Amino acid sequence: MKNIVILISGGGSNMAAIVRAAGRDRWSERFGARIAAVISNKADAAGLALAKSHGIETAVVPHKDFPSREAFDVALAEAVDAHSPALVVLAGFMRILTPAFVGRYAGRLINIHPSLLPAFPGLNTHQRAIDAGCKVAGVTVHQVTTELDHGPILDQAVVPVLPDDISATLASRVLAQEHQLYPRAISAWLADTSSHIS
Ligand code: GRF
Repeated sequence: MKNIVILISGGGSNMAAIVRAAGRDRWSERFGARIAAVISNKADAAGLALAKSHGIETAVVPHKDFPSREAFDVALAEAVDAHSPALVVLAGFMRILTPAFVGRYAGRLINIHPSLLPAFPGLNTHQRAIDAGCKVAGVTVHQVTTELDHGPILDQAVVPVLPDDISATLASRVLAQEHQLYPRAISAWLADTSSHIS
């Protein structure tokens, strides 16, 4: 069985979309894959309750309990490794990861970023796209490398930027696309790795 571990920090709507797609599209039968665990760096992340309600194991590794980024990442890796992951999915996980963590999961660590990378890495992507006068915005799923919001692009989706958009309206249009794109990108990754194995 290919175990997928999802890391979240907040609402977990992308995680929920992935969980829904895994059931609807029978990832277990088609790819031998399952969502093994959802792990958060925040105990109050709303997504944790949602994961539990789907019978998914959850864990919390509070970053504030650790003296350094390195120490947090060691503890996080222990929690992740407890589920022998084939794929680690960052879904609104709002911590910068150390090179040691990224290297440990090289080729099996992916992220979603709400911009059309390589444009607008980092925070406040929607406001920055509006301020730049962009006519389109969007979302990117990419492999994680040591450089923040870089790494090989797996898939993207585009939305229009409308004349009256403010950050919140653009964010919600992009988020609707995120919920389509992330499950699709993971499904493609699973299909690809399944074809290498057989
Ligand atoms: C998403 O827009 C994601 O791309 C960004 O943070 C948001 C998380 O939303 N990094 P959710 O927790 O999946 O609802």
